[in-house]
Amino acid sequence: MGATQYYCAATLDGFIAEADDTLDWLLKYEGSFDGPGAEPMKGSYDRFYDDVGAVVMGSATYQFVLDEVSSWPYAGKPAWVLTSRELPLPETEGADIRFANAAVAELHPEMVAAAGERHLWVIGGGNVASQFADEGLIDELLVTVVPVVLGEGKPLFDRRLAGPPLQLVSSRSFDTGMVELRYEVVRSG
Ligand SMILES: NC(=O)c1ccc[n+]([C@@H]2O[C@H](COP(=O)([O-])OP(=O)(O)OC[C@H]3O[C@@H](n4cnc5c(N)ncnc54)[C@H](OP(=O)(O)O)[C@@H]3O)[C@@H](O)[C@H]2O)c1
Repeated sequence: MGATQYYCAATLDGFIAEADDTLDWLLKYEGSFDGPGAEPMKGSYDRFYDDVGAVVMGSATYQFVLDEVSSWPYAGKPAWVLTSRELPLPETEGADIRFANAAVAELHPEMVAAAGERHLWVIGGGNVASQFADEGLIDELLVTVVPVVLGEGKPLFDRRLAGPPLQLVSSRSFDTGMVELRYEVVRSG
């Protein structure tokens, strides 16, 4: 069975989007780092994505993807979209979208089963990630820190993370100046 991973990019001050949901700080970011140990950024997302068997996101994230990305980027992988509303479907061939309006603990077993040997990717946002965290369902947190400070925006988690501090597993610096932090979520008790 794969792990449940919350993988995202965040600013240095812990935001995953501007308050108006825009992502220019990430999509238009240009930076570099040629210090010791710098790894190529190119290909790192693809390597992560190859190991993903299913994805889950909230409706705000879904809306952003529909509005900003020309074709559904997760075609061929089961994708849960959490929402209490009726939302449009993309036209992309292979899009496998499952709208759900339920507690994440109730949905998690079928998501994990659909992911098979691969991982379940909690795409976000912070609202959905916090629901998984509250239920102790996140195994790993992988944050790519972008050296940008926004001062306000949508948070990585939208509430306090209970339990002991996260356990750092690894970190790596990319040639873009972004740093990936990989944490294991330690269960309390
Ligand atoms: N930087 C990154 O890597 C990254 C990653 C992911 C997202 N983002 C950004 O983060 C922002 C969105 O984050 P967010 O925390 O505001 O929102 P979100 O988690 O994407 O969506 C929250 C919404 O989803 C619906 N929902 C959540 N849980 C539900 C449940 N259990 N059952 C039914 N519906 C449920 C609710 O809306 P309704 O019921 O009204 O539909 C809720 O308001 C977007 O701008 C997105 O682009 C950035």
